[in-house]
Amino acid sequence: MSTLPQDPEAQIPRKKITTLVFRQKKERGEPIAVLTGSDYPTALALDRAGIDAILVGDSLGMVVLGYENTLPVTMDEMLHHCRAVARGARSALLIGDMPFMSFQVSIEEAIRNAGRFLQFGGMEAVKLEGGRERLPAIHAIIAAGIPVMGHLGLTPQSVNLLGGFRPQGRTAVTARRLLEDALLLEEAGCFSLVLESVPARLAEMISKRLTIPTIGIGAGAGCDGQVLVTHDLLGLFDRFTPKFVRKYANLHTEMQIAFSAYIADVQGRAFPAQEHSIEMPAEEWEALVHKPNR
Ligand code: KIV
Repeated sequence: MSTLPQDPEAQIPRKKITTLVFRQKKERGEPIAVLTGSDYPTALALDRAGIDAILVGDSLGMVVLGYENTLPVTMDEMLHHCRAVARGARSALLIGDMPFMSFQVSIEEAIRNAGRFLQFGGMEAVKLEGGRERLPAIHAIIAAGIPVMGHLGLTPQSVNLLGGFRPQGRTAVTARRLLEDALLLEEAGCFSLVLESVPARLAEMISKRLTIPTIGIGAGAGCDGQVLVTHDLLGLFDRFTPKFVRKYANLHTEMQIAFSAYIADVQGRAFPAQEHSIEMPAEEWEALVHKPNR
C-alpha cells in the first residue's frame, strides 16, 4: 500500500490526463486507474491521490441519491454533480455518464445532452451504455467533437431487459456478440471501453483484440484498467457490496462513530469547548454590561 506524502496539498502538479494519455498507457502496458466521483472533496482527494480519470457515473443515483437503481437519474442531477467534481479535479480526465433516456430518444438529443456535459458540466468526455444499437448516437457525438467511452456487459440502465444485475457474456453466443460489439465501438471511434461483470477470460480476450483501453469492473485482471464505485471502495454504501469490490475503508462505520461522539459531546456539554468560542474584547464587554446607553 502506498503512503501519503507529509503534506498532501504540497504535491507537485501532475501532467493533465487526456484521452490520448489513455491510449499511450495501453501502448506502454501501464494499468489505468479510474474511480467514480460525485462531489468536490472526493474529486480533490482522488486527483491528489493520482487517479487517471474520474467518472461521474450515474451510479450516484444509488450511492448518493438513494434511488433503487440508476433509471431515475436526470441530466440536471448529473450536471449538478459534474460541476462539483470539475471544481475539485485538475489533472484527472473527467468523464460524465449519460443517464437513462438522455441518448436513446433521438440522435439530436444524444448530441445535445453529450454537449451539455462539456459545456455546462466541466467534463471532457462522456460515457454511454450499449453496443451496436448505440452506434448512430456514438458516431454523431464523436462527430460533434466529444470523446466517447463505451460500456458493455452488465449495463445497469438495461436492468429490466437483462432480468437483474447479473453477469453477461457467459455463453459462447453472448460472448461472441460482446466481442463483436467491442470491435464495433472501437471502429466507431470510442477512446475507451468499460467492461462490466463479464468473465475474466472474455474481458482479457477483448482487451487483447482492441487497440483502445478496456476499463474493467468485475471483469478480471486482464483489462487495461480498472474502475470501481468510490462509495463501494470506501464502505460508504449501506445496501450491498458487489462481489468484485475490494473495500479499502469502512467509512460508514467511521461516520457513525464520529456522529455518535459529537452527539454525546453536545449532550454532555463537552462541545463546544473554550477553544471553539469567540472572544469579545474585555472593554467592549464592560461597556455592554455597565454602560448600556453608550
Ligand atoms: O455509473 C457508474 O458508476 C458506472 C461504473 C460502474 C462503470 O457506470
